[in-house]
Amino acid sequence: MATPVQTAKPSHVSAPRPLTAHKAGALTGSARVPGDKSISHRALMIGAVAVGETTIHGLLEGEDVLNTAKAMTALGATVHRDADGVWHVQGVGLGALKEPDDVIDMGNSGTGARLLSGLVAGHPITAQFTGDASLRSRPMARVTKPLEGFGARFITRDGGKLPMTVIGTRDPMPVTYRLPVPSAQVKSAILFAGLCAPGTTTVIEPEPTRDHSELMLQHFGAELSVEDQADGSRRIALTGQPELMAREVRVAGDPSSAAFPAVAALIVPGSRVTLRHVGLNPLRDGLYRTLMEMGADIKYDNVRDEAGEPVADLVISHSPLKGVDVPAGRAPSMIDEYPILAIAAACASGTTVMRGLAELRVKESDRLTAIAEGLAACGVKAEVEGDTLTVHGNSGAIPGGGRIATRLDHRIAMAFLVLGLAADKPVTVDDGGPIATSFPDFEALMAGLGAKISA
Ligand code: S3P
Repeated sequence: MATPVQTAKPSHVSAPRPLTAHKAGALTGSARVPGDKSISHRALMIGAVAVGETTIHGLLEGEDVLNTAKAMTALGATVHRDADGVWHVQGVGLGALKEPDDVIDMGNSGTGARLLSGLVAGHPITAQFTGDASLRSRPMARVTKPLEGFGARFITRDGGKLPMTVIGTRDPMPVTYRLPVPSAQVKSAILFAGLCAPGTTTVIEPEPTRDHSELMLQHFGAELSVEDQADGSRRIALTGQPELMAREVRVAGDPSSAAFPAVAALIVPGSRVTLRHVGLNPLRDGLYRTLMEMGADIKYDNVRDEAGEPVADLVISHSPLKGVDVPAGRAPSMIDEYPILAIAAACASGTTVMRGLAELRVKESDRLTAIAEGLAACGVKAEVEGDTLTVHGNSGAIPGGGRIATRLDHRIAMAFLVLGLAADKPVTVDDGGPIATSFPDFEALMAGLGAKISA
């Protein structure tokens, strides 16, 4: 029996749900983390503009992605989940998205809002987007500026913020754009608009960012070339108006979600945990490389390739960690992982310096402030200077006892709950609700490994 797309009451309209993590005994066992959020959004969006029925296995069923599924329905695609948990998208074909008859609520998701703005910009329709308080505070000018080059128009609140009206164009002109910030979201928004334009749309990225859009577009039959330039930048050229054909997509486990149980296993003495089927795209694996530099015992088992993306089972054992210097150039490959890296750094011996983190100010929360204040509340010294975060490790002796402001940020909530598992006094996050945006089974998965997290 097919079920249409529906979501539970989203976390941002429910009452706050505090969660407390208690010092844990060894974490053990094996678990499969949820599907990759970035890949899941892209599979739904590209499936919606392909011809025929795309099937998606392992889609992340978190609020962010479910909002994208609803949005694609509002734009004319038919999306449903079957009893086996496989998702089906009946695409309308490129250029055939329909005008939605109401405002589209993207919840907490910057990826959803920015990528879809690109897709809509290339269609002759008008759509309005809004989101929760976190998303409504995030900058959209980074996508509206290049998308105006295609001929689309935008009406935003002051400061380029949602709610935003996208007035798409009937005759998109291809653009060539050099990204001023390393952002896969901006790159993808431009490529998605470029799908509808004749000729070649080119994005030059000075620092390579996650390439799931490029891989997925190729998977659906688009002609797209990627060239590494002598100066280290990357040139991505998409031939517009491709015939996108429906495909089968298998979504790997999200390395950004796996990061939470992985670091928990590293910092809780005696732990040994296996995380199965984790995607290890080389543009996403910066956290794991950094943890290994810190002395982490992480083994990649059963490494295989799935739909062009490397996948492995991670075997992680408790390890004494030492502080390291994380270069700015690594930031794009681990941009979502700094909250949990900061927790590993807090438990390490010595100092960890993380550079080039300006983008963390405009994530689901101002993560630089959230991390520094949260660590201070748990008795760990940390400083932010410009775009550098420095954490002074406590060699595993974490006082804890803090109450952490989640700020509608799932990763802040999960990171500090992980810290609580290794701290002397319990750590409370004031709202665990946002965890459902990316990792709805977080509490159950952690409990299955032996963690004590209580409501
Ligand atoms: C994402 C890109 C990153 C990341 C976000 C997901 C994506 O954002 O922080 O969680 O799926 O393209 P930026 O591209 O803005 O850095």
